[in-house]
Amino acid sequence: MKTKKSDRPAHSGSQAATPSKPPANAQALAVIAPEIRPGQSIELLKELHILTREGKLNQDSRRKLKQVYHLFQFIEKLLLELLDSKAGQERGLTLADHGAGKSYLGFIIYDLFFKAQKAGHIYGVETRSELVQKSRELAARLGFERMSFLNLSVAESAQSELLPEGIDVVTALHACDTATDDAIAFGLQKRAKFMVLVPCCQAEVARVLSQHKALSLSRTPLAELWRHPLHTREMGSQITNVLRCLYLEACGYQVTVTELVGWEHSMKNELIIARHTGQPKRAAAQRLRDVLQEFGLTSLLETRFRLPEVQGSGNTTDNASDTVATV
Ligand SMILES: C[S@@+](CC[C@H](N)C(=O)[O-])C[C@H]1O[C@@H](n2cnc3c(N)ncnc32)[C@H](O)[C@@H]1O
Repeated sequence: MKTKKSDRPAHSGSQAATPSKPPANAQALAVIAPEIRPGQSIELLKELHILTREGKLNQDSRRKLKQVYHLFQFIEKLLLELLDSKAGQERGLTLADHGAGKSYLGFIIYDLFFKAQKAGHIYGVETRSELVQKSRELAARLGFERMSFLNLSVAESAQSELLPEGIDVVTALHACDTATDDAIAFGLQKRAKFMVLVPCCQAEVARVLSQHKALSLSRTPLAELWRHPLHTREMGSQITNVLRCLYLEACGYQVTVTELVGWEHSMKNELIIARHTGQPKRAAAQRLRDVLQEFGLTSLLETRFRLPEVQGSGNTTDNASDTVATV
């Protein structure tokens, strides 16, 4: 199905097409629901259950819409920054959303940003085939032609020819367990300019913490922090995110960690934004090794946190204070 008039773009990026006049129903909606942006797909909002079938916005969905915008605003800033670059203008931007689920995030980003661009592509990566199929159907109905949905695991997608060699932005919103780590590996391989990660629970580190618990308890009183299984899980999650940040810094990214405020429906609201600087931090790599050593997790250096070979000093930085401040 072709893009409907009501689905035409209204974004004002540097490559944005001229916004079409909002159709009558959108104007009416703007009065009852000022949160809805001009040009935003009403059909999409209904599909996402943000609007009821009658096109109404209730208290709950108003909150949901605010949350989605909140995350989108972080991502929009990054996309606008990339659009100003030469590559962004020439070939359009590429974004891969990992553990896409129903692809809410991808659809919103496409609707509010990519739709208005002449080029660019969003890839949704998801292992559940029925969700992939549904997303394909919805994209076809909405006329969102530059969206693809791949029935692959995040790890498989890094090797897949269905994705380009380079990807500008990687997102992973509550991608389960180690899928966030796979998304980081994917981003590194694809030389992503930005990674936007809201991690889910991760069991891998907790498992390794458990394996070495007795040894850790005999070695340090700090092991009390993860003695009880519930604490092992919580500490595992916390340590995992700290390790991810150090790893990204060691691989040439600047990292900021904030809270995804307003994300009340989830306990997992840590937002990690990594910006490629091309300057691997040697101090972060050392800190990563130290933390792994301290927690008895050094085996992960061979698997999850393979550090880049840092040659000479030209491209690296030893700014340890910066490292500490961002995590
Ligand atoms: C909690 S849902 C989040 C969905 C969506 N990102 C959101 O926030 O609404 C996690 C999704 O990740 C998918 N998933 C889990 N592990 C995956 C993997 N290794 N590769 C690809 N998808 C994965 C699951 O099937 C599920 O749909």
